Amino acid sequence: MVVEPKVKGFICTTAHPVGCEESVRRQIAYCKEKGMVEGPKKVLVIGASTGYGLASRIAVTYGYGAGTIGVSYEKEAKGKRTATAGWYNTKAFEKLAKEDGYYAKSFNGDGFSKEMKDQVIKTIQEDWSEVDLVVYSMAAPRRTLPDGTAVSSVLKTVGSELTNKTIDLRTNEVTEVTVPVATEEEIQNTIKVMGGEDWSDWIHALADAGVLAQNASTVAYSYIGPEVTHAIYKDGSIGQAKKHLYDTSVALTKEFSDIHLSARISVNKALVTQSSAAIPIVPLYISLLYKVMKKEGLHEGCIEQMQRLFTEKFVKQEVDEKGQFRLDDWEMRDSVQDAIKEVWDKITTENIQEYCDIDGYWEDFYHMFGFHYDNVDYAADCEI
Ligand code: NAI
Repeated sequence: MVVEPKVKGFICTTAHPVGCEESVRRQIAYCKEKGMVEGPKKVLVIGASTGYGLASRIAVTYGYGAGTIGVSYEKEAKGKRTATAGWYNTKAFEKLAKEDGYYAKSFNGDGFSKEMKDQVIKTIQEDWSEVDLVVYSMAAPRRTLPDGTAVSSVLKTVGSELTNKTIDLRTNEVTEVTVPVATEEEIQNTIKVMGGEDWSDWIHALADAGVLAQNASTVAYSYIGPEVTHAIYKDGSIGQAKKHLYDTSVALTKEFSDIHLSARISVNKALVTQSSAAIPIVPLYISLLYKVMKKEGLHEGCIEQMQRLFTEKFVKQEVDEKGQFRLDDWEMRDSVQDAIKEVWDKITTENIQEYCDIDGYWEDFYHMFGFHYDNVDYAADCEI
């Protein structure tokens, strides 16, 4: 079947299997070129199929020589409907990692569920006996709680509503968006979905089963960002969940001090992923950020970020005063943020190409779904 991109708003409903493999290949090639350091050898990645989680999986495999177990929630192909990008990415990663002699097993299903935790623990017991690094990179819109009730996360403000510029991804027009205030219930639900509770549940389940190694580490991902995004991110409903995630890192380190567990947050850079594309205002900020960082020679994608995290900051335990890895260090440089502040108010539909790297945004967007790679023949039939 010939597969074409079908973009609807901030999502593409098709994915190209050959292009997704190309995306994984390129990420692997980047890490191979950067070389190896000493690090954990048995790594569990929760949320391993796209974005930061996939990049983490690749970075530890090719940066430490680690075996990986990956958990994700993706859709298989059905009839003429392609699988999701994460499904193809996972297949491609397993194939390529195994060709290179690395252990790689993947589970597809609800990472919030007890069943998934049990399956993963059983595999660790059978294949590894212990795990020494757990990466928590799940980004989900909803969660089914252990009692069966489903809760959803929202991307809203806290306190007062916010009107700011955004980009309409259907037309590339700069428009105004008013983000509504989250209710207390919505905030609590967002914390349930995107906060640290499930991360903590995973660590407890692994520890209770006796498969969490002495001196093990665990890391979960967060974002802070500049003032222009604070109302929607850091101080918004998602930010409340990220505060909970941070508090969880502190609580886990304390609780599991007997086995010397290190639980930390890595504050990453804002990048185009399937999750960030859904946040109002943020895509406009990202396309401006890309322009400024590329100009300064500081731009990184998910793989560059995760390669730097695991082969540099993690092994050196280079953290800020709150104990967090700061992969947003280059994004938050004064030179970068001053340049963004200077033009934010000036951006309009007419001058967006001048100030923002809108082409770079869309290139990353299409790449996420396996499209727009110059060495893939998109006119050719492929097996979906
Ligand atoms: P993503 O959408 O690319 O990846 C999400 C992953 O979670 C996928 O592997 C997906 O299959 C998995 N997943 C979703 N629901 C699941 C479920 N119920 N069970 C099992 N797996 C499930 O997202 P992205 O952007 O890589 O986000 C990962 C983390 O990084 C999140 O915590 C996010 O807040 C954080 N982050 C993202 C930034 C960005 O700009 N994209 C910046 C800084 C932090």
